[in-house]
Amino acid sequence: MKAVVANSNQPGCLELGEVAEPVVDYNESLITVTGFSLNRGELRRAQSAPDGTQIGWDLVGVVKNAARDGSGPSEGNRVVGFSRRMCGWAQRVALPTRDFTVIPDAVSERDAATLPVAGLTALYALERCERLLGSKILVTGASGGVGYFACQLGRLMGAEVVAQLRRADFVDVVRATKVNDVIISTDGTGLEAQGKFRAIIDGVGGPVLSKLLPQLDERGRAILYGVSAGPEVTLAVRELFLTGDGRIEGFHLYRETEIESAAKGLDRLLRLVADKCLITHVPITDNWNNIGETATRLIGRDFPGKAVLTI
Ligand SMILES: NC(=O)c1ccc[n+]([C@@H]2O[C@H](COP(=O)([O-])OP(=O)(O)OC[C@H]3O[C@@H](n4cnc5c(N)ncnc54)[C@H](OP(=O)(O)O)[C@@H]3O)[C@@H](O)[C@H]2O)c1
Repeated sequence: MKAVVANSNQPGCLELGEVAEPVVDYNESLITVTGFSLNRGELRRAQSAPDGTQIGWDLVGVVKNAARDGSGPSEGNRVVGFSRRMCGWAQRVALPTRDFTVIPDAVSERDAATLPVAGLTALYALERCERLLGSKILVTGASGGVGYFACQLGRLMGAEVVAQLRRADFVDVVRATKVNDVIISTDGTGLEAQGKFRAIIDGVGGPVLSKLLPQLDERGRAILYGVSAGPEVTLAVRELFLTGDGRIEGFHLYRETEIESAAKGLDRLLRLVADKCLITHVPITDNWNNIGETATRLIGRDFPGKAVLTI
């Protein structure tokens, strides 16, 4: 069958290649994949993976064979899921039933495809934080896949959300999330005036995060999930210990989806999309034959939000 695989000589280090059919375990369903969204993380993985390695976390499709253990949706259901083995961008994929769920009729496959990695990361990162109702929080990289959802989910949790982004041309997209304030800053300058934050949901790292960490409040949580601007951060230790109980926490989605299955988290996000409480931003839709070009555009930050490709 055809699948997206790493190839260091191709645009975006990706191409469509031939791979073996998936082996389906007892607790897994075989899914005919119809589309997927791209994430920065798997595109980075493609840049360092041996040629031929399958790539792809997020996917939507239709259940071809239900799991033999009786769990999960039955055949013919439209589903969205997350391939932990990173084999999702293929004509067919085997997924444990805890890693996918049925797409409600009110939700398009395009919208559903954006949710697994970006939506679940935003959801679980915010849920690590306490007492958000009425508190001020900061979301960095608000124009990105995760940041865009974190802005909206933060508002839904009752927080006053300040969004940081670096490009003025993406401001309108971020404002559509109904955040309370938008700050354009490439290095964190300008955020001091915002005062203290109960939570900092950060996927950027680098100098932005260095500037921000002293702004945690006394019960603040900085949830660090990404390093788009760089992995090294200067930590103002004095300001941190003066917060009393301010904490910096690492976040990894694989770990979080052991605490709550991706299927359950996706059910919650899909309900919000169906109720029009959560919107997606998908400026790029294309065929998977153009995987290299789309990946190159995402890594180059050519567009805000998400890209969805169909098979
Ligand atoms: N730990 C986990 O489990 C987990 C889960 C999901 C994602 N991640 C990681 O989180 C990060 C964000 O993921 P994503 O899918 O949201 O990526 P994305 O869609 O590419 O968004 C990246 C965001 O970071 C901003 N950004 C990029 N480079 C920057 C720089 N040099 N300085 C300041 N801002 C910069 C972008 O701003 P512009 O729009 O202005 O370019 C954009 O808002 C990635 O590093 C990804 O690998 C980790």
